[in-house]
Amino acid sequence: MAEPSLVSGGEEPEERAIEAALRPKHLDDFVGQQRVRRQLSLVLEASRLRGRSADHVLLSGPPGLGKTTLAMIIAAEMNAPLRISSGPAIQHAGDLAAILSSLSEGEVLFLDEIHRMSRPAEEMLYMAMEDFRVDIVVGKGAGATAIPLDLPPFTLVGATTRAGLLPGPLRDRFGFTGHLEFYSVEELELVLRRSAGLLDLRVTSAGFTEVAGRSRGTPRIANRLLRRVRDWALVHRIEQIDARAAAAALDMYEVDAKGLDRLDRGVLSALVTKFGGGPVGLSTLAIAVGEEPETVETVAEPYLVREGLMGRTPRGRIATPAAYEHLGLPLPPDAPFAYSATLFGPGSAPAADDDANDAEFLTDWN
Ligand SMILES: Nc1ncnc2c1ncn2[C@@H]1O[C@H](COP(=O)(O)OP(=O)(O)OP(=O)(O)O)[C@@H](O)[C@H]1O
Ligand SMILES: [Mg+2]
Repeated sequence: MAEPSLVSGGEEPEERAIEAALRPKHLDDFVGQQRVRRQLSLVLEASRLRGRSADHVLLSGPPGLGKTTLAMIIAAEMNAPLRISSGPAIQHAGDLAAILSSLSEGEVLFLDEIHRMSRPAEEMLYMAMEDFRVDIVVGKGAGATAIPLDLPPFTLVGATTRAGLLPGPLRDRFGFTGHLEFYSVEELELVLRRSAGLLDLRVTSAGFTEVAGRSRGTPRIANRLLRRVRDWALVHRIEQIDARAAAAALDMYEVDAKGLDRLDRGVLSALVTKFGGGPVGLSTLAIAVGEEPETVETVAEPYLVREGLMGRTPRGRIATPAAYEHLGLPLPPDAPFAYSATLFGPGSAPAADDDANDAEFLTDWN
């Protein structure tokens, strides 16, 4: 695997404490995601008016976009206690039973990575969500008996980066599903403004724009880059961070103007310079950059495809005209992208972040 990257959406272990400090606590401080925010605020308001716990909420979307943050906000807005667990932590139905049976009335139960829960636990959750009841199995074999246990009304908030992997019956039991989208540069500027305030940093508007533009539509990355820029400014004794300082700092960390890091750029330039823009198979491309195919596929590729720098065709990866432009190279007349659209009809290519489909799709032609 590659070393942890500054621009990966995932959370680094030492990042937790600082993230907690930067997390907005109320829906009004939560930047962007207009649609989800408006819908969610309606769900919460209605449940307050009814004096009942809110419907179960499912939050889906790529890492670092604010699922955990929203779960915490839901509890805060409902003035309810929050219990946190995750799919991988619930390996046996008994683990879940223990959590459920100790919930208090109105409590919000946040289950992160809910798609990774074990099957038996999942089935127990169905009943708990729908009827606020679980069957606790006591004893083993022929003598085992199921003791029904009533649960207090609670609100389940599930989070998943892979909504496609969630079984239908589980998905159907959520009263509200919010899908988080990548943030615009303007929205990320607002996230950064807020964080800079909390970190007591002086940054110009253009400075915010510079950092936001390199943050891959992801607040977690934006906050991380801001902290690196802060370090750089501190060492260089710069009091006010403008666009030039931000750019110089992030160039030093090898995060370029589009937010590509060294691996992303390596993949892209190998594709363009060694393979004439493709098409080239994943494993060949991976060897060319000295990485595992899996790293290239899961770490570099999704963003390159999302940014329209790389295309995937049945015959392999290809560079788009935008890739040449980004690398500052002239577009050769025989660049492959010109005919790629006909190789793979419009609408049939899977979305870049739809990894569930991707895995299948990719094996077809690698
Ligand atoms: N809308 C937002 N406004 C302001 N800050 C945000 C927003 N969304 C996320 N953040 C910031 O980004 C960081 C990461 O968000 P969060 O932990 O909620 O992501 P996540 O979707 O749960 O990611 P993962 O899938 O890795 O669990 C938080 O520390 C928070 O400060
Ligand atoms: Mg999270």
